[in-house]
Amino acid sequence: MVTKLFQNPFSGWLKPKGAKPARPAVLVKQLEERDRRRMLKHFIGLDDSDRLLRFGTVLPDQQVAAYVNKIDLGRDTVYGVYNRVFKLVAVGHLAFAPKQPHAAPNALTDKDRDKDTVAEFGVSVSKSARGLGIGTKLFERAAIHCRNCDVDTLYMHCLSSNQTMMHIAKKAGMQIERDYGEADAHLRLLPASPGTVLQEALQEQFATIDYTLKANTRAAVKWFER
Ligand SMILES: CC(C)(COP(=O)(O)OP(=O)(O)OC[C@H]1O[C@@H](n2cnc3c(N)ncnc32)[C@H](O)[C@@H]1OP(=O)(O)O)[C@@H](O)C(=O)NCCC(=O)NCCS
Repeated sequence: MVTKLFQNPFSGWLKPKGAKPARPAVLVKQLEERDRRRMLKHFIGLDDSDRLLRFGTVLPDQQVAAYVNKIDLGRDTVYGVYNRVFKLVAVGHLAFAPKQPHAAPNALTDKDRDKDTVAEFGVSVSKSARGLGIGTKLFERAAIHCRNCDVDTLYMHCLSSNQTMMHIAKKAGMQIERDYGEADAHLRLLPASPGTVLQEALQEQFATIDYTLKANTRAAVKWFER
């Protein structure tokens, strides 16, 4: 049922009989100021266990709101995935920061990092939309963006009990260091290429068209309802 919210309505006609259902296409869109209210709604919709996995602590609503309001969309990049009824079901926050020589004990040494900026990624997918490849796609998009922004190391911090995230990190080839129930993962990225620049631009174009269509449909439905 949930899967259908993402699927192309004609996909059933094109698929050969008996074929394994393909994962629906996931369009990752860079979020803007106008999406901030929906970001908050998405985070508030996470239950306590998800908030613990996402933020490392069970943040109360007020602090979640403060976190959302503090996201600097001029410096960081936030990605989102909308379902067919224009509900924001996933948010990935790619935060950029200058490298710190003496960060956490587990952090990479300066020798390991060439660039002056590092990026850290945090992601959450609404329960209703999990297992469709959305978390993976958000991660991949963040990695491409880092490459295109000349950032060579992408970090992720999570609980080592977070099996799903560990799986995504391993699949992406991240190096994982576990310590006292927490895990720091990092991925060394290749430099940008014309292919990565084109890939990111195309993905954003498709996602923007999709976003516009869904937003207009949603507005029309609301208008008719009134
Ligand atoms: C982690 C999270 C983002 C994953 O989102 P998702 O959209 O369901 O992820 P995907 O569908 O892309 O991938 C899930 C993968 O994990 C695998 N998986 C699911 N449960 C698993 C488990 N218990 N152990 C190992 N792998 C598991 C799936 O099989 C899938 O692998 P595949 O793509 O190779 O088939 C989502 O569960 C979430 O929001 N969790 C709460 C917040 C959180 O943990 N954030 C991460 C902290 S930064």
